[in-house]
Amino acid sequence: MRFEGKTALITGAGRGIGLAVAHELARGGADLALNDLDGERLKASAAALREHGAKVSMHVGSVTDEGVADRMVSEAVAEHRKIDLLVNNAGGGPVATPWQAFSKTPTSDLRAFFELNFFSQATLLHLVLPDMVDRGYGKIVCVSSISAILGQENGAPYAAAKAALHGLVSSVSKEVARHGVTINAVVLGNPPHPSRTPDRQDYLNHLSHFDRVGRFEEFGKAIAFLLSDDSSYISGAAVPIDGGILAPRLNE
Ligand SMILES: NC(=O)c1ccc[n+]([C@@H]2O[C@H](COP(=O)([O-])OP(=O)(O)OC[C@H]3O[C@@H](n4cnc5c(N)ncnc54)[C@H](O)[C@@H]3O)[C@@H](O)[C@H]2O)c1
Repeated sequence: MRFEGKTALITGAGRGIGLAVAHELARGGADLALNDLDGERLKASAAALREHGAKVSMHVGSVTDEGVADRMVSEAVAEHRKIDLLVNNAGGGPVATPWQAFSKTPTSDLRAFFELNFFSQATLLHLVLPDMVDRGYGKIVCVSSISAILGQENGAPYAAAKAALHGLVSSVSKEVARHGVTINAVVLGNPPHPSRTPDRQDYLNHLSHFDRVGRFEEFGKAIAFLLSDDSSYISGAAVPIDGGILAPRLNE
């Protein structure tokens, strides 16, 4: 029960990575404040999490809306008294035709990617950090992607927005670690994704050293480690959880 007495706020927790983290934390005794854009999805996920005995509150809305983010944090604090752990997870492609050559990408799309993958995370840091610093305790994980490091053809807005996060995380860490707050980025590669084509999946599996897709629980457990007190001397890092993709094979 390593998370007993702790409350975690997790964005985009209705499915996927966010939900996997929620299950790990609930198994460890945490209370959960869960956000998602999709209220029905969140309700179903919250019901499953309550089976672990977790106290779960739901906060529906888009993290890109500062009013929603502000309300979500106030409601979570009112319900659970405090936020000890933050998982800045919601992210991805915010616009209908996101993956295209940069020369064809309107600035509005570029801004939309930054709103979802960078500014929403920065806003939540603004909202939770003062209280964490005052209380001398907090653990934050910001979800990034291997695209931030490798770049991604036809995905420059996503890669650039995630790369900006790394500068945010390493900078903020220097300001808050001595106040008991750690903040790390996780650099995800090849988790399952519902809209990935089979060819793309085969290619990513080949890039990984395991020749397979990562399992949600493998991402959930690694992120939970960074949220636990076992990671007390790790901060400002960009930790790969990628099946080895960032260390490419050289002899093939
Ligand atoms: N799955 C991948 O291939 C992959 C790879 C690398 C990094 N990542 C990163 O991992 C994180 C989670 O990815 P995932 O694949 O689990 O996501 P996903 O697309 O499955 O979405 C997870 C949840 O987030 C919610 N969501 C989407 N936009 C939101 C918003 N604006 N506000 C609140 N909730 C919102 C969705 O409704 C969904 O329930 C993202 O930051 C993503 O960029 C994913």
